[in-house]
Amino acid sequence: VFGKPVPAPIFVPEDEASLAEVIARYAGDAACVRLYSGGDCNLTFTDRCAAFVDGRRLLQRLEDLAAIGPIAGGGVNRLALTDADKAGRDLVTGWMRDLGLDVRIDSVGNAVGLWGDRIERAVMIGSHIDTVRTGGRYDGNFGVLAGLEVIETLMTAGVDPPSGGVAVAFFTNEEGARFAPDMLGSLVYAGGMPVEAAHDITGIDGAHVGEELARIGYLGSYPCPGPAPRAFLELHVEQGPVLEAEGFDIGAVTGVQGIWWEEVTVHGQSNHAGTTPMALRHDAAYVAAEMGVFVRRLALELGGHQVATMGRVELYPNLTNVVASRATFTLDVRNTDATVLAEAEHQIMGRLDELAASEKVTIERRTLARFAPVAFDDTMIDRVEAHASKLGARVKRLPSGAGHDAQMLARICPTSMIFVPSANGISHNPSEYTAPESL
Ligand code: GLV
Ligand code: MN
Ligand code: MN
Repeated sequence: VFGKPVPAPIFVPEDEASLAEVIARYAGDAACVRLYSGGDCNLTFTDRCAAFVDGRRLLQRLEDLAAIGPIAGGGVNRLALTDADKAGRDLVTGWMRDLGLDVRIDSVGNAVGLWGDRIERAVMIGSHIDTVRTGGRYDGNFGVLAGLEVIETLMTAGVDPPSGGVAVAFFTNEEGARFAPDMLGSLVYAGGMPVEAAHDITGIDGAHVGEELARIGYLGSYPCPGPAPRAFLELHVEQGPVLEAEGFDIGAVTGVQGIWWEEVTVHGQSNHAGTTPMALRHDAAYVAAEMGVFVRRLALELGGHQVATMGRVELYPNLTNVVASRATFTLDVRNTDATVLAEAEHQIMGRLDELAASEKVTIERRTLARFAPVAFDDTMIDRVEAHASKLGARVKRLPSGAGHDAQMLARICPTSMIFVPSANGISHNPSEYTAPESL
């Protein structure tokens, strides 16, 4: 509740009002509204206790975290395992420790702050705090700070840790912008890649995950894979236009679409741009350009949820009057439908082979990520939808277009996500914005 003082809890007899009415009546006046029955302070978690988060505190933490690695336009550059990421990690784990949480750093640098005794019995709330190089301040960060806020709110309201406890977590290198694949920390946490393989990954700047973890002091001692929590919940900005455009407050996320990342290197021949006849060229830049156009046309043709992006292109020698001898580019191809995604991959590789033959160039390929579509837990999705509706929010069920740590945690425990609207559907951009009242 924004701009309101936070007084002591107000106690309301159960028969006086439904939860929604109580909230409507006391929102803004109460730090905590509790409903209890039979004269005993018989608190249970769901429905009986509505503790209001402190919006100012949450916004201030978002602001403080965004001040680390700031870039023009209000955005953030905290690529995974850089000095800026270390500073962000220090800040957030400091907040966890201030709350008295048991902070555990594992061997891929994931951080879990536990309020309770065992992660296996706790509900874990989390996301990531690394960003793309030109990122916004909400992507990932919101989910982690929201988890922290949930715990602090419950503590402030005088509630004991709910049975099993609550944990807040951030996972290493979710973005995949520096080290592929994306969702690396949560993938290893969930047992999808051995720690040693993760440590060996080389980034876009030649750095290695293991060395960078040690360098920034986040090569932790807790083992990975980590313990499966009782359930996992990730709050996140939608990063797309649907909720805002259709007038919804909350997205009950049904799952995450499948993703395939490929890095392609085309080896041609550099030659004089003025003297080499068109028919005699082995032009790597041409092949890259054709593929950029092809994947876009293909995505439009396939329709539905199909998207395809060429996000990185590097030419060598990258000079005006020299036919490029080498082009390296990445493709990011996604769909909620695994069959259509496989068909897209098949067509893209077919087109690449055709171009290699006609331009007489050779092709080197490296798969950077491949994750099947993930469906979240039905009970968790239902609960998100039911609770948000009960609180008066307009809720839409929708799949996620972006990748998330939740899709990895879904391998080991009941998982779902909550989306809030993104202004103009903009993300991976400094102008990413979600209004305070939507957070
Ligand atoms: C992660 O942010 C992604 O690219 O989906
Ligand atoms: Mn994210
Ligand atoms: Mn992101």
